[in-house]
Order: sequence, then C-alpha cells, then structure tokens
Amino acid sequence: MKIKIESLEQIHEVARQFIAEIGDHSVFALYGKMGAGKTTFIKAVCEELGVTDVINSPTFAIVNEYRSDTTGELIYHFDFYRIKKLEEVYDMGYEDYFYSGALCFIEWPELVEELLPGDAVKVTIEEIEDGTRELRVMSYE
Ligand SMILES: Nc1ncnc2c1ncn2[C@@H]1O[C@H](COP(=O)(O)OP(=O)(O)OP(=O)(O)O)[C@@H](O)[C@H]1O
Ligand SMILES: [Mg+2]
Repeated sequence: MKIKIESLEQIHEVARQFIAEIGDHSVFALYGKMGAGKTTFIKAVCEELGVTDVINSPTFAIVNEYRSDTTGELIYHFDFYRIKKLEEVYDMGYEDYFYSGALCFIEWPELVEELLPGDAVKVTIEEIEDGTRELRVMSYE
C-alpha cells in the first residue's frame, strides 16, 4: 500500500485509510529519516483512534502510553532514537509491550531490528517533493 500525504490538511484522512487496513496487526515499525514525519503521522493515527492526550515523541522515556477515549484501549508509542545499547530495551521490558496485543507504533525501529516481532508491519515515510510525504506499508499479509 502506498499513500501520498500532500499536506498536513490531509493527514487525518490518510490516518483513517491506514486504520482501515490495520486488521489484527498490532506492531507498526515506522522507518524514515529525521523529520520525515513519523511522529506527526503516529499522532494523527492516535487522534483518529480516539486518543485525546497530548501525543508527542517519548522524550524522557522510551515509550509513551496513551488511552483511546473511544475504545478504552492502550496504545504504545516508542522512540528508540536515543538508545545506546539493546540492554536498555531489554530493561524496559519491551516484550511486554510488543506481545501485549495492544497497538504499538515504533520510531527508529532500525535500532531494535532484531527485537521486532516477525509479524511487525513495516511502514516507510519519506518526503518526496515540496513537503509531500509518501507512506508505504510494506508487509500486510
Ligand atoms: N505529512 C506532512 N506534511 C507536511 N509537513 C509534515 C508532514 N509530516 C510531518 N511534517 C512536518 O515535518 C516536521 C518533522 O515531523 P516529525 O517530527 O513528525 O518527524 P519525525 O520523522 O518524527 O522526526 P524524528 O526522526 O526527528 O523523530 C514537523 O515540522 C512536521 O510538522
Ligand atoms: Mg519523531
């Protein structure tokens, strides 16, 4: 699946399209350069899922937890950019999140590649021209 986000005005519409395809997948690895729009897209998806908390990249922790006000379900948002050793990821108990069945959105998954569940869905986000972002969902099976 390949979708263009031509401007921020469109992002919630694209987030809804993305959500429609989630099915029973729960772990999403978002690859993309710094500033590509990973956090912005995750925020839009979480908002469409009914999260009304402030959605920002986890700054002090590796993971932020949100709750959807519509379904009551938990959603986890990871940013592994600052990790220095995989041990930090083991220590935070990553498995309890990745295998919880709750939705997990991961920024900088390349830093924990070997820990990603085999059925994690790979998503890439790239700025292609004058601000337009291209979102590719690699592996829906
Ligand atoms: N679809 C979009 N259309 C236009 N601007 C966007 C879009 N997505 C993100 N931006 C803008 O790009 C900037 C960087 O976005 P964002 O913080 O989401 O990137 P990121 O991939 O999470 O970066 P990092 O690797 O640093 O975490 C922000 O100013 C944001 O407003
Ligand atoms: Mg980010």
